[in-house]
Amino acid sequence: GTQLSAPDAGLVLKKIAIGHGIQNYTCTDSAPATTASAIGALAILYDVTSLFPGTLRTGLSNATWNDFPKNLLYGKPVPLNLINPNTGYGATASPFPRAADLTLGNIRASFLGHHYFDQFGSPTFELLTVNLKASVKKLEGFNAPATADKGILNTGAVQWLKLIDNGKGFNKGLTTVYRVVTAGGAAEACSKIGPGVVDSVPYTTYYWFYGPK
Ligand SMILES: *[C@@H]1O[C@H](CO)[C@@H](O)[C@H](O)[C@H]1NC(C)=O
Ligand SMILES: *[C@@H]1O[C@H](CO)[C@@H](O)[C@H](O)[C@H]1NC(C)=O
Repeated sequence: GTQLSAPDAGLVLKKIAIGHGIQNYTCTDSAPATTASAIGALAILYDVTSLFPGTLRTGLSNATWNDFPKNLLYGKPVPLNLINPNTGYGATASPFPRAADLTLGNIRASFLGHHYFDQFGSPTFELLTVNLKASVKKLEGFNAPATADKGILNTGAVQWLKLIDNGKGFNKGLTTVYRVVTAGGAAEACSKIGPGVVDSVPYTTYYWFYGPK
């Protein structure tokens, strides 16, 4: 497929996370031609930096790494305080539970932080355990490969993205975020969602975080 552009010169990789959460959508009406608008997302981030293939002693195989988002999507309920964690529907007023590490089969990953949209509607990543933060806007987005997992609701995988500092002054040590190897998260049809309702679709992905040295 089309490749996202490389990080700017001078940036270094700070963390790789796996994220597990929901993508939110809404529709103005239920006409078949209406497409849902993205209105936010909530996810828990786990640190997988040391699991990257090739990392001495701790790296996963390429196949295990590439399948991890998909296996996590089906292997665990959405780790948010939701009314229905299996389908993702209905976040409660306090969606983030107490920090907890992730175990899936033999794979362990430490809690890293939260992904949410802030009061200005900016996608925000708080890497709480390492005191890094990104408040971003979309620079590039390309459709996930045709082989990407379509998710629990069979709606498709959300786009792969390059996100950059939105200039609002909230960032700490991060300027660029990539979202790659997505599983699930695409919207249901507006004919199913109906007008004025929030549709929450479970997803998983890798997030790669870059910042200045
Ligand atoms: C894993 O994937 C990387 C990147 O595509 C490649 O360079 C490497 O050779 C692969 N390793 C194995 C063991 O296949
Ligand atoms: C996502 O939708 C849920 C309802 O399913 C809502 O409680 C939550 O606040 C929404 N979050 C965002 C960031 O849109």
